[in-house]
Amino acid sequence: MSQSSADLFNQIHARSLSDPEGFWGEAAEDITWIRKWDKVLDDSNAPFYRWFAGGVLNTCYNAVDRHVEAGRGAQAAIIYDSPVTGTVQTITYSELQEQVARFAGALRARGVEKGDRVLLYMPMIPQSVVAMLACARLGAVHSVVFGGFAPHELATRINDAKPKAIVSASCGIEPNRIVKYKPMLDAAIEQADHKPSSCIIYQRPQETASLVEGRDQDWAAAVAAAEPAECVPVAATDPLYILYTSGTTGQPKGVVRDNGGHAVALRWTMKNIYNVQPGEVYWAASDVGWVVGHSYIVYAPLLTGCTTIVFEGKPVGTPDPGTFWRMIEQHKIGTLFTAPTAFRAIKREDPDANHLKKYDLSHFRALFLAGERSDPDTLHWAEDNLKVPVIDHWWQTETGWAISGNPLGVHLFPIKYGSATRPMPGWDVRVLNAELKEVPRGDIGAICVKLPLPPGTLPTLWNADERFKKSYLADYPGYYQTGDAGFIDDDGYVYVMARTDDIINVAGHRLSTGAMEEVLSSHKDVAECAVIGVADDLKGQVPLGFVCLKAGVTRPHEEIVKEIVQLVREQIGPVADFKRAVVVDRLPKTRSGKILRGTMQKIADNQDYKTPATIDDPGILPEIAVALQSLGYASAHKGEA
Ligand code: COA
Ligand code: AMP
Repeated sequence: MSQSSADLFNQIHARSLSDPEGFWGEAAEDITWIRKWDKVLDDSNAPFYRWFAGGVLNTCYNAVDRHVEAGRGAQAAIIYDSPVTGTVQTITYSELQEQVARFAGALRARGVEKGDRVLLYMPMIPQSVVAMLACARLGAVHSVVFGGFAPHELATRINDAKPKAIVSASCGIEPNRIVKYKPMLDAAIEQADHKPSSCIIYQRPQETASLVEGRDQDWAAAVAAAEPAECVPVAATDPLYILYTSGTTGQPKGVVRDNGGHAVALRWTMKNIYNVQPGEVYWAASDVGWVVGHSYIVYAPLLTGCTTIVFEGKPVGTPDPGTFWRMIEQHKIGTLFTAPTAFRAIKREDPDANHLKKYDLSHFRALFLAGERSDPDTLHWAEDNLKVPVIDHWWQTETGWAISGNPLGVHLFPIKYGSATRPMPGWDVRVLNAELKEVPRGDIGAICVKLPLPPGTLPTLWNADERFKKSYLADYPGYYQTGDAGFIDDDGYVYVMARTDDIINVAGHRLSTGAMEEVLSSHKDVAECAVIGVADDLKGQVPLGFVCLKAGVTRPHEEIVKEIVQLVREQIGPVADFKRAVVVDRLPKTRSGKILRGTMQKIADNQDYKTPATIDDPGILPEIAVALQSLGYASAHKGEA
């Protein structure tokens, strides 16, 4: 039996590559189309591939209305559980339809039509999901910005997406503070060159935001005055959303997602990767500001007719490390998806899992982890205590769903710790060397994917076709470059080891050290700087800054460090988690002037390193080690390894 389901998966995977049009054309039958496609895969403008060209549908209809029409109206669509406000609220599919249609009407009354962008800066409340779906209903393009980003980052996104309207809330709630969104939104609009014509603000009881006359409108008033809007037909290839993600500079990349391929792919993944059926309760413990939130809090569970969870809290401290188990028991959650960092946080506070023992988790079936490398310790701990499959799967904002994973709905492959298992259907994963040749199994190289990418992946970057080609397609012609390095073993298992660029992963959040360096360089006393990601027991990685001061600066170093830490918080936001920096005399560089960040990181993490042959002055490395030791890193450093 198990042998035959493994064979079945192998057949499915092989077919998805040899006959992508047949494979995805069949998968598309699970979606309701207003008009079927002319062509499953349109490669006439390669490398810009389009899925389901000629097809017409509405994503909101498929996620909401369709289920009401099919008799799921009374079923919970959303369970909102907010330990930080003491709220639990259920919204049925019928109620969701009503709320989404009305909010879409409110947006339309403010001039939002098909193709217009709407920026969302929202906390984890059901209104965020309502606003996303309302955009989808109108064929407008939403762009959600995570609440932990500062006004400057918000302004960058406003300038790039040029939204007609912005939807926000008066506040978000972190365990230790109320985060007032409205002043940050006002500051961002002030900074931005593009000015949205209207803002709709959801006033929460914890904070009342002041509204700008003529521009801002209260959510409740806007909805009360609105006529419900019907679903607008859109082309399968029309954009559903833009989600900005860190690139190598301070200018984030606007990842575009289409309507048709996205709906088809996500619906397929729920059945085949997550093994989740309509009517079940599915929880992605993430945030709507991240891709996991887009795909697996909002679209995939709702496209499937599941109940999705909107959780406003943290795995620990709201109120204790038993919160996740309480949620699973209370809401009958069958499948949980989160980042390993959440489990590290729980394990740290409750290593013996005493909290877990208080709850009945007998209905719980599987845990999925992604967003960063899963460390074997955490995986073992989760397996031992939950006694269900714990599945690491690997994906990116760009891909929208898993590149590699363990397809629980077809076959559970034996788990190998440190591997995100096998490439999923549609993904032709190859590991390449600098000569663009495939490396032997087991050898590390750049993980690339043979084009075309499957449906649901980015067709391009927003208004930046050239940047799309340069960032992802130029270095390895014919392939998509994931930016991750790793290897594939003899059984075809994928191991993702590290990024090949300057992106770091902090608590499952993707951040650019280049963007942080841009902020550090803007400080008046800083001559040059470097930011690296160092290993962290809880968050996987945390950023660490090195600054060289301009000649003649005599102010105390602690003062300057404090200022640059504050500057990153103000410019990028608390999510950057930039808390530590050190002043050094010089930075290690190659003779051509390239800062040796990789070597610095190895020293910090006590890894073996070789002094690069191209180094300009090897004497700087011990100085860096001493500086790192002052921050509690590089404890094992005794000179060159
Ligand atoms: N709005 C405003 N600020 C936010 C925020 C939001 N939506 N989310 C986080 N922040 C702030 C935090 O309050 C913190 O601020 P501080 O420096 O004043 O303490 C800072 O940003 C860093 O946040 P984070 O890295 O999340 O740390 P944390 O200590 O608050 O929580 C974890 C750590 C591990 C518990 C948390 O990151 C977590 O649950 N992660 C797993 C789930 C997840 O988010 N996955 C993402 C992709 S799947
Ligand atoms: P994001 O775009 O924020 O989802 O971040 C994507 C990046 O996170 C990937 O390119 C990887 O570097 C990392 N990542 C995500 N999932 C995994 C995983 N399962 N194992 C290792 N790294 C991962």
